[in-house]
Amino acid sequence: MKIAAIGDPHGNLEKITKIPLDHVDLILLTGDLGKTDILRRQALQYLNIPNPGPKEKLSHAEGFRQAFLTAHETVLKLAGYLAGFCPVFIVRGNADLSNYDTRKFSRTFSIELPFLYQDLSAIRGVRLIDNRVADFKGLRIGGIKYFTDICWAEEFELAGIEKIRRRALQDTDKINSVLGRFGRLDILLTHVPPYGVLDRVDSALIPPSWIGRHAGSKIVLEYILQEQPGYVFCGHIHEGEGFEKLGRSEVYNLGMGGSKIVEL
Ligand SMILES: [Fe+2]
Repeated sequence: MKIAAIGDPHGNLEKITKIPLDHVDLILLTGDLGKTDILRRQALQYLNIPNPGPKEKLSHAEGFRQAFLTAHETVLKLAGYLAGFCPVFIVRGNADLSNYDTRKFSRTFSIELPFLYQDLSAIRGVRLIDNRVADFKGLRIGGIKYFTDICWAEEFELAGIEKIRRRALQDTDKINSVLGRFGRLDILLTHVPPYGVLDRVDSALIPPSWIGRHAGSKIVLEYILQEQPGYVFCGHIHEGEGFEKLGRSEVYNLGMGGSKIVEL
């Protein structure tokens, strides 16, 4: 059986169409599916307005709606293309819009927006495996969606910010129990890489003091060391793209639209 794992596509369908997917039995996606750069710009512009009133909301609503729909459509186009080959398993990345975010945006701008995961699930062959184990022809494949590990907040000196600390502690607790339930896996599909493995940040967009720090998760690392899944596929830290072995586990950070085809 051939399995193709693809790293954070970020809406780059052109790159994805170059991956040879004929005769592949299953596709795994590490999250961050759509093109969200325009949406992020729009959101930042809006956040920089001090005390936005109804007039500001109205003037930003249409631009925001368009940017949201662009991001949404790139995801559906990509998922539809991939599902044309074989079943597709997906985990959520930090750039993918949750129902919670969508509701919040709808309320803020008084606009109607589509829900990403509802529309994705409607595509035949597409399956979201956030925080659960999926069986594929006898293979156990575990999915971990984006979360903030408390070790990340500490590494980047953000743990002192109460809101970040609380969320990271809650996330870490939750994912720890999810991983505890996973047991043995053939494949772990996780948006966030394991701590210290293909997770070193290096980008012009971050504060210089952060360069070289590790943005991975210690609980994901512990799980891999303990349970030794055959393969681990991750994304998130695009500059960490590469391959490393952790005991018997082969770990691949597939970067932004990178891919690896394995035969099991
Ligand atoms: Fe990403």
